[in-house]
Amino acid sequence: MAKPESFAVMPCVAFKFTIFVLVPIFAVLSFSQPVYARDSSQETTEDYCLSCHADPDLDLNFPDGETLFLYISPEALSHSVHSSLGIECIACHTDIRSYPHPPVEFNNPRELAQSYFQACQKCHSDLFAEAMDSIHAAAVEQGSDSAPICTDCHTAHAVQAPDEPRSQISLTCGECHTEVFDVYRDSVHGAALLEAENPDVPVCTDCHGVHAIQDPTAVAFRVETPELCAGCHADPELMSQYGLNSDVYSTYQLSWHGVDVTVYQARWPNLWHSSAVCTDCHGVHNILSSSDPQSSVHPDNLLGTCQQCHPGAGPQFVGAWTGHTQIDLQRNPYVFYTDIFYRYFAYLVLMVSAIYVLLQILRATVVRVRRSLG
Ligand code: HEC
Ligand code: HEC
Ligand code: HEC
Ligand code: HEC
Ligand code: HEC
Ligand code: HEC
Ligand code: HEC
Ligand code: HEC
Ligand code: HEC
Repeated sequence: MAKPESFAVMPCVAFKFTIFVLVPIFAVLSFSQPVYARDSSQETTEDYCLSCHADPDLDLNFPDGETLFLYISPEALSHSVHSSLGIECIACHTDIRSYPHPPVEFNNPRELAQSYFQACQKCHSDLFAEAMDSIHAAAVEQGSDSAPICTDCHTAHAVQAPDEPRSQISLTCGECHTEVFDVYRDSVHGAALLEAENPDVPVCTDCHGVHAIQDPTAVAFRVETPELCAGCHADPELMSQYGLNSDVYSTYQLSWHGVDVTVYQARWPNLWHSSAVCTDCHGVHNILSSSDPQSSVHPDNLLGTCQQCHPGAGPQFVGAWTGHTQIDLQRNPYVFYTDIFYRYFAYLVLMVSAIYVLLQILRATVVRVRRSLG
């Protein structure tokens, strides 16, 4: 607290202040720009911060013994989506305005990142709230250092459009989920994406979501997977481009398994039931074309796939299942003729019954008329 000066000393103080403080400041401002550290109007700009942070040797040692490089590449920064929107350092680093900075109170770089990424919330509040509800955020909450926060997937200073090219999405997830990624890379979906940049096949986020990723082993997720696949595989226009059958979903829905799953989903959505969903027969990240000898639905492997759940099944078991094709003469002649037989048999029985009932009515009427006549 400054004590009030007596009137007698005031002019002297004002004089000294002008000579020794204001004049030098004015001189510096007008003759030697830019001197960022002295000019408070410049202190918040990117150029000011980069006057130190573009130095590749600038680093910081943490109590845990780890070192963090404080170099911010001006080149990478200039290509960030935020830079082109005029979003500069202090939009995120709100409490750093000049040097010296407030003291660093983190034990290691991960603690720093886990605290600073909260800044994304300011402008992406909806996404942030969504992400906080994910399995990743739950893992962070439980103390995981390896579960991702915004900047692990997007970076902090070189933020790019995350889906350009589209394969970048799966590559980002693959950085941590290397086992899943290695399997997916060789699947019919992953190979089409990564080798041919085919935009029609699913990337990780088409099945798992992006920011609100939930537990994929939960019952609710499992019973919804047929609809997930149907999003593409029941689309006749899309599937015709690949010569694939787009009836796979409708035929599945009519199968024993499909009916079973639908009933359970409607009545007991959280009760585990082992009736087969698409991925039980086809695999998940390792889905292959049924003509590939490695495929779980290749004729050589199919019985083994059924036996996972039907342990007693013999070779005839597979033949009894009509697969995804509508019943046809070439594939299943017996089933085809049986189907025809029952279809016409049913009509026949109906017709005969109808004629029988009509004749009965006619007869009853005739009898009644005869009686009334005498
Ligand atoms: C005069 C040089 C200098 C300038 C200018 C400067 N910094 Fe720093 N910065 C440092 C040094 C040195 C450290 C290492 C920690 C320390 O000494 O406080 C650091 C650390 C940091 C850190 C990490 C640790 C912490 O303190 O959170 C961030 C973030 C940071 N600076 C951001 C900025 C921003 C934003 C600006 C511009 C407003 C800026 N810096 C301007 C020198 C500078
Ligand atoms: C879009 C938000 C955002 C902007 C803009 C931003 N930062 Fe950061 N910065 C962060 C986050 C979040 C971290 C935490 C580290 C992480 O998660 O990678 C960070 C970390 C840092 C660090 C610590 C070293 C590191 O890379 O982790 C320094 C130094 C730093 N920022 C300086 C700057 C400077 C200088 C600018 C402007 C040229 C700037 N930042 C602009 C969000 C931002
Ligand atoms: C000062 C506001 C602000 C802050 C803070 C901020 N962003 Fe942004 N960000 C924007 C705006 C504006 C856009 C462009 C419009 C949009 O896509 O929402 C954008 C776009 C993005 C995009 C989309 C890029 C694209 O082309 O699709 C990503 C990813 C992103 N930000 C990530 C982050 C991350 C991660 C953080 C925290 C480190 C962050 N943002 C902090 C304002 C901000
Ligand atoms: C596990 C990785 C991952 C994490 C963590 C993550 N994102 Fe994303 N984000 C992505 C991917 C992948 C996309 C592109 C999705 C697409 O195009 O289908 C994306 C898209 C975006 C977009 C642009 C598209 C949109 O929906 O507006 C913004 C903005 C964004 N993320 C911000 C954030 C913020 C903020 C956080 C932290 C709360 C965050 N992200 C956390 C992977 C991630
Ligand atoms: C920075 C590393 C990292 C990145 C990047 C990342 N993850 Fe994760 N992910 C984790 C960790 C760690 C867990 C928690 C593992 C656990 O609890 O077993 C996890 C959990 C998951 C789970 C739940 C696993 C389970 O067994 O229940 C799914 C699904 C998942 N991630 C999908 C994704 C997708 C999709 C992306 C890309 C958008 C992605 N992850 C990006 C590290 C990462
Ligand atoms: C076609 C849909 C689909 C795609 C594409 C997909 N997943 Fe999955 N994923 C699933 C399903 C379904 C499950 C649940 C499997 C189960 O019940 O065990 C799962 C399970 C997981 C799990 C937890 C169990 C495990 O196997 O470790 C992780 C982690 C995961 N996926 C990550 C990824 C990543 C990373 C990618 C991209 C490289 C990806 N997924 C692509 C459908 C998909
Ligand atoms: C985003 C759209 C999309 C989703 C979701 C999707 N697929 Fe596919 N799938 C495709 C496309 C496109 C092809 C053809 C790829 C090619 O031949 O290059 C394909 C190929 C296949 C094939 C190989 C067919 C053959 O014999 O050549 C099988 C089997 C398959 N998918 C099963 C599934 C299953 C099971 C699911 C759900 C877990 C699923 N797909 C989810 C788009 C999708
Ligand atoms: C009981 C096991 C089983 C289930 C469940 C199953 N499939 Fe199949 N699927 C097969 C077999 C066997 C084949 C190869 C023979 C055929 O085409 O009928 C096949 C073939 C396919 C093909 C290739 C079709 C073509 O034109 O070559 C696709 C795509 C496919 N299935 C997707 C799905 C989808 C999507 C689901 C879930 C809605 C599903 N499957 C459920 C066993 C199954
Ligand atoms: C993930 C486990 C699983 C797989 C894999 C599986 N099924 Fe099933 N299947 C079931 C369950 C559960 C039922 C229903 C049993 C009940 O409700 O009584 C069922 C019912 C059936 C039925 C109805 C009659 C019966 O035996 O109960 C047939 C036929 C059938 N499956 C054939 C197949 C064929 C063929 C394959 C291989 C192409 C196959 N299943 C693969 C779990 C599976």
